Amino acid sequence: MHSSKQILSFLLPFTLISNTFAQQSITNPTTRAEFALSALQIWYNAGTGLWNTCGWWNSANVMTMVTNLAKYDSNPQLQDLAKRVFANTLVNAPSKNPQPGVESKTFSQKQLSLNNTGYDKSSGEDGEVITTYPQGWGKIRWDQDYKVEDIQLKLQGDPVNAAAAPNPNDWLDGFYDDDLWWALAWIGAYDITKNVQYLQLAEGIFMATTKVWPSRCFNGGIYWSFKKDYVNAVANELFFSTAAHLANRAQNKAFYVDWAQRSLAWFLKSGMINSRGTINDGLTDGCVNNNQTTWSYNQGVILGGLAELNKAAPDKSYLPLAAKTAKAAIAELSDSNGILHDKCGPLCGGDASQFKGIFVRNLQQLHAVAPDAAYVKTIQANANSIWNNNRDQGNMLSINWAGPYIATANASTHSSAMDALVAAITVK
Ligand SMILES: *[C@@H]1O[C@H](CO)[C@@H](O)[C@H](O)[C@H]1NC(C)=O
Ligand SMILES: *[C@@H]1O[C@H](CO)[C@@H](O)[C@H](O)[C@H]1NC(C)=O
Ligand SMILES: *[C@@H]1O[C@H](CO)[C@@H](O)[C@H](O)[C@H]1NC(C)=O
Repeated sequence: MHSSKQILSFLLPFTLISNTFAQQSITNPTTRAEFALSALQIWYNAGTGLWNTCGWWNSANVMTMVTNLAKYDSNPQLQDLAKRVFANTLVNAPSKNPQPGVESKTFSQKQLSLNNTGYDKSSGEDGEVITTYPQGWGKIRWDQDYKVEDIQLKLQGDPVNAAAAPNPNDWLDGFYDDDLWWALAWIGAYDITKNVQYLQLAEGIFMATTKVWPSRCFNGGIYWSFKKDYVNAVANELFFSTAAHLANRAQNKAFYVDWAQRSLAWFLKSGMINSRGTINDGLTDGCVNNNQTTWSYNQGVILGGLAELNKAAPDKSYLPLAAKTAKAAIAELSDSNGILHDKCGPLCGGDASQFKGIFVRNLQQLHAVAPDAAYVKTIQANANSIWNNNRDQGNMLSINWAGPYIATANASTHSSAMDALVAAITVK
């Protein structure tokens, strides 16, 4: 149905290990991750630069996972694939931005209620995110077929050689967490390729989000979105982490260190960290902790940020804070076998399906600078359980890391589980 040019795939020598039974016995973390990557790329849509069956910001996380795999697996075929994916996504994904342009405008309440883009994210009663996409936005559902004509229409030239400077505005959709997921993805792509265009793109996206500082709470922080209605953990942790990552890479180090320090200080003052040491979803209208769900990803993003800031501008409080948060999260979110779950799991919708992987990815980043046997145990237990209990015959990985496999996996559940497989490559 689609030619090989349209899907940037990763083809393993399947004859080597051709049946699931034999695959079950694979214990090498790199081999597991490679098989899973091969399965993932069935969803990669070269025409949109995104992964079918998941949303816009999810694809940023899929790409970040791929950048991490490329950091730890030197397989030349994989390195080549990763670079082609970045180059292709850079060119093609902007056409699928679900809500471009809103950040450069000011909206009246009346205009806001027109819902003219169809893209919206709202917070459910327990803080769960519910995203709706513009009609016909994409192939986010497993049962929706590719539209080949559509793909061909969007495929522009040879993406690897695309030279036009990327425009940060193309990556902004009015939800600052979405924006910053992409910033982190492009930082990851820069780490692999050293292509400064990617770094500059990440800087441009970050700069756009600095314009919405401060929120109404404690004279700092950013809102979740251009609607300025919610001050939450994820947007602010991402803001902090992106600044800290840029501090170690961009030319203007002091500028980014300053933003990272200020946003961390604000976050600690905001009250989003509860008495158990975990992080709730956000703040009430009155700027107090709303006690909503301690989602796994909110325990994760801060860890990578602290690891990066401690490298850029060491402070003796950073790594202990990260360790305290990581351990509180492991205690709160793990079952008796050490397997991670979000509270409403396994089925918490198409956003939360991404979350656990984000936690483990950042736990690994912390472990790399402050190793701890507890992290090794968590990473290995989850990776092993995913491989043994949460995988189908095509190596698709689903939502319940403890198993059993719940049909049908999608690019969100799969890439999230892959974050744990990738983390397992780095721990011994
Ligand atoms: C449109 O936006 C308004 C204000 O944000 C909201 O209350 C309403 O539910 C939205 N309508 C639809 C159909 O999404
Ligand atoms: C959150 O929980 C704490 C501790 O139980 C309580 O003191 C506080 O009032 C709660 N906040 C809200 C907004 O419900
Ligand atoms: C992906 O799978 C999870 C788990 O079944 C589900 O909650 C989520 O809605 C799915 N996402 C999409 C876009 O279908």
